Amino acid sequence: MKVAPSILSADFSRLGDEIKAVENSGADWLHLDVMDGHFVPNLTFGPPIIKNIRPLSSLFFDVHLMISKPEKLLQNFLDAGADLITIHYEATQKIDEIIKIIQKSGKKIGISIKPNTPIESIKNLLGKIDLILIMSVEPGWGGQKFMPEMLEKVKKLKHWRETNTENYHYLIEIDGGINDSNILEVKNCGVDVVVAGSYIFKSNNYKDAISSLHQ
Ligand code: DX5
Ligand code: ZN
Repeated sequence: MKVAPSILSADFSRLGDEIKAVENSGADWLHLDVMDGHFVPNLTFGPPIIKNIRPLSSLFFDVHLMISKPEKLLQNFLDAGADLITIHYEATQKIDEIIKIIQKSGKKIGISIKPNTPIESIKNLLGKIDLILIMSVEPGWGGQKFMPEMLEKVKKLKHWRETNTENYHYLIEIDGGINDSNILEVKNCGVDVVVAGSYIFKSNNYKDAISSLHQ
């Protein structure tokens, strides 16, 4: 299982050092939370920051777009150096178009759903995408409480993949409230990638925090 620290809880005044620190502490991917103050109430950063941090790290850049109409800025995120772009199912009417653009660019495409969106809503997309991101908190902020009932979605995704190996190759990622007290339960449900923000960046030892999620 891969661990993707979310820089949302990093110290942004030392962002480059924070990224190097998690990279040197065993992170597999880097999770980048982009918020627009519209799809979610909070605001974070956009393509220019991603472009600036790209040369500092060789980690896989897992870009989580919590923005309305992501199709408008898609090319900017691709040009900035995203390796995988996850858009929200609830944020656009143009999912098929977005999938085609990202695939054509050679990058990976993920779809995320908010806690109240049933997993069945995206069933027709499963054969076309590389990753499903299950939100286990309401998107918008770090440091919220994990919603264990979201693991039912993970179990369904795992079952569907196992019973349709010819068509489905998606990874299952979970995001929100992950820490050392729920990681085993999460892992046992078949998650491939876990995102953790505050648990890692608010800890006093990134290496210990990341390895506690790896086991
Ligand atoms: C929430 C973001 C998460 C957030 C997770 O909207 O998508 O990636 O950083 O933070 P924690 O791990 O603190 O819940
Ligand atoms: Zn996220």
